[in-house]
Amino acid sequence: MRLYINIDHVATVRQARRTDEPDPVRVAVLAELGGADGITVHLREDRRHIQDRDVRLLMQTVRTVVNLELAASSEIVSLACELRPMQATLVPEKREEVTTEGGLALDPGRQLEATKAALVRLAGAGIRTSLFIDPDEASIRAAVEMGADAVELHTGEFANTRGDERRGQLERLNRAASLARKLSLAVHAGHGLTYENVHPVAAIPEIEELNIGHSIVSRALFTGMEAAVREMAEIIRRARSHA
Ligand code: PXP
Repeated sequence: MRLYINIDHVATVRQARRTDEPDPVRVAVLAELGGADGITVHLREDRRHIQDRDVRLLMQTVRTVVNLELAASSEIVSLACELRPMQATLVPEKREEVTTEGGLALDPGRQLEATKAALVRLAGAGIRTSLFIDPDEASIRAAVEMGADAVELHTGEFANTRGDERRGQLERLNRAASLARKLSLAVHAGHGLTYENVHPVAAIPEIEELNIGHSIVSRALFTGMEAAVREMAEIIRRARSHA
């Protein structure tokens, strides 16, 4: 299991004052020292947190890998093709949302065509491609059809529910992970995962990569980034050894 740390919210704090601290590039180094297997950043069209400069510097600094989240917008895809991160994860983007609210809509329509075009360009640049989708069969089959290397299953509904509903969402993630793997997609997961809820998701055997941001950046305020990453990595390791 790989743990990729999403450091967008370090940039959110910086952008609150439009100054130069805290620097997400320095935090990425500490996350790696704490055991991160990769660094994830979302370069949004509105540049509300991560800036072009951050992605450029991370590409030079990160010793593990960079996973760039991006919408299927021509401008950002061009930048990705120029910088060539190891992996690009296509996500839907709405200006009014606080965070990515749902997976890509891969039913016939404009988002599908734009996603396909972006995928072809990214793959052509030699970048491993992943699609952020809701954990449902239709989206998984669409991702296979489009030739994606991986899917990232949206864990937001799992994270936002409790009790029986949460157990239902976990079952949904299990089914989706197993179908995606059977269809030869690599399976990633993320969104809303915390120190309290990550265990059952990390125990799903088909999942090979978790992308976690807000909870780790929040904990790092108290413990520092290295310790925050180490603690999450340990929970995930235990979940895998008990699976
Ligand atoms: N994966 C994707 C595709 C995301 O858009 C995000 C949020 O930026 C995450 C994972 C991380 O979510 P969180 O910050 O809730 O851990």
